[in-house]
Amino acid sequence: MPILELKGVSRRYKNGQITVEALKEIDLTVEEGEFLSIMGPSGSGKSTMLNLIGCLDRPSTGSLILNGRHVEKLSDNRLADIRNQFIGFVFQSFHLLPDLDAQANVELPLIYRGMGAKERRKRAVEALEAVGLGERRRHRPCQLSGGEQQRVAIARALVGDPALILADEPTGALDSRTGNTIMAIFQRLNRDKGLTIVQVTHERDIALHGSRVVHLKDGMIENIEQVPEPLVAREEETEIPVA
Ligand SMILES: Nc1ncnc2c1ncn2[C@@H]1O[C@H](COP(=O)(O)OP(=O)(O)OP(=O)(O)O)[C@@H](O)[C@H]1O
Ligand SMILES: [Mg+2]
Repeated sequence: MPILELKGVSRRYKNGQITVEALKEIDLTVEEGEFLSIMGPSGSGKSTMLNLIGCLDRPSTGSLILNGRHVEKLSDNRLADIRNQFIGFVFQSFHLLPDLDAQANVELPLIYRGMGAKERRKRAVEALEAVGLGERRRHRPCQLSGGEQQRVAIARALVGDPALILADEPTGALDSRTGNTIMAIFQRLNRDKGLTIVQVTHERDIALHGSRVVHLKDGMIENIEQVPEPLVAREEETEIPVA
């Protein structure tokens, strides 16, 4: 079953007299367990598309079906529930809270779910271990390298046990070796846990870790490229931690 379907999805932004058509009549089906990349020039609609998929926004027209369920007409509260239960987000600039340590950052989505402290702690530690940061859980973001901060952000995305990970330029702020580590983690989660991953990227070398690449241009799908042999990233344990 497809985990995600976009049918004739358009998104128009109206600012006074001016209307920007950020996405035009997008049709796309993503199967469960897929690793999909979205590429395209700046302004082509990549973030708009990811935000729609992530239920952070709604289509102006068309339908969006997540796990067999139409979401375009749901209330804001229902959309928030779906985000919380079903989707994990990873952003270019990590979006960690600076005053909280890694573990507290990872626990946050569970607090919104009303989970008790003991269960939260257990799950946060597991998620941090899954990204190789079990030992660093008491460090605050400023005490971690960029790659480590992104791994904390991935742990936070994972902790709620989502089916779908959405990542907007997850390696955009990282050097290429560290970016490679992030790809290795995504590929492991995709392969071992069957997580569906949709990532936006400017870098072709990053995009080719997925098995399909959607090329957007001017808010439309220009073509969908099949990647017969996706690049395989290896996890390295050599990143030098910042004290
Ligand atoms: N809130 C908004 N109001 C008006 N126009 C917007 C808004 N958000 C995005 N747009 C416009 O929609 C179009 C697509 O924007 P989007 O952010 O999706 O592009 P992108 O492909 O993610 O670009 P980048 O690579 O620079 O991140 C752009 O023309 C942008 O200016
Ligand atoms: Mg963008």
